[in-house]
Amino acid sequence: MILLKNITKSYFIGERELPILKGINLEINQGEFVILMGVSGSGKTTLMNIIGLLDKQTEGEFRFMGTPVSDLADEGLAGMRNAHIGFVFQQFFLLPYLNAIENVLIPIVYSRKDIKHPREQARRLFERFGLLDRMHNKPSQLSGGEQQRVAIARALMNQPDLILADEPTGALDSKTGNEIMGLFSMLNKEGKTVIVVTHNSKLTSFGTRLVRIEDGTISEDRKV
Ligand SMILES: Nc1ncnc2c1ncn2[C@@H]1O[C@H](COP(=O)(O)OP(=O)(O)OP(=O)(O)O)[C@@H](O)[C@H]1O
Ligand SMILES: [Mg+2]
Repeated sequence: MILLKNITKSYFIGERELPILKGINLEINQGEFVILMGVSGSGKTTLMNIIGLLDKQTEGEFRFMGTPVSDLADEGLAGMRNAHIGFVFQQFFLLPYLNAIENVLIPIVYSRKDIKHPREQARRLFERFGLLDRMHNKPSQLSGGEQQRVAIARALMNQPDLILADEPTGALDSKTGNEIMGLFSMLNKEGKTVIVVTHNSKLTSFGTRLVRIEDGTISEDRKV
């Protein structure tokens, strides 16, 4: 599903080159649940942005679902993202003026897929996530854990193959964080490929594989 060969990423501050990723080699197959770890500033978000087709590598080859991504223009990248990837973030990013179910329905507006009966689908997600009685609440009326479950439901609406979550438990207490990881684990068992960035080594056991970045390269890559 994901094939990264010798990926480098540098930021340029004026004339100065700031190398962040220094030759990442990584292959992730459909059905894996990868926990991505590394100290702050090691390049985890940078790598997630490349995998999520939000940013381009400086050098190296990236194949996403068999397609060499470097060949794609912005429109093609947006199409791939839309068809295959769901995003979850630390800060949830729910729209404050919409209620929970309206937030979950947003991806339908942009969807290039023909999602049948979106409201019914959304309702089913709320039911599964134990949020049926929260559907009409605004984000400010929800707990952090509830907001994150709504955000995950939103990420699922477009039926992605891959879920990318950057520190999804970072703003939650440990019990709620475990519940959220349990949810990702359940989605993974149903066939979704999942990549979760976390600082918390206690959460590695939820994954099937641990990848650690250190100083711009992969320092550890093993089955969990
Ligand atoms: N747009 C940018 N321009 C310049 N430097 C950047 C940019 N984005 C990130 N960086 C730098 O790249 C490095 C890696 O950043 P990145 O966000 O990938 O780290 P991270 O591993 O996700 O860290 P954290 O755990 O704190 O989220 C950092 O030193 C950061 O300052
Ligand atoms: Mg980060």
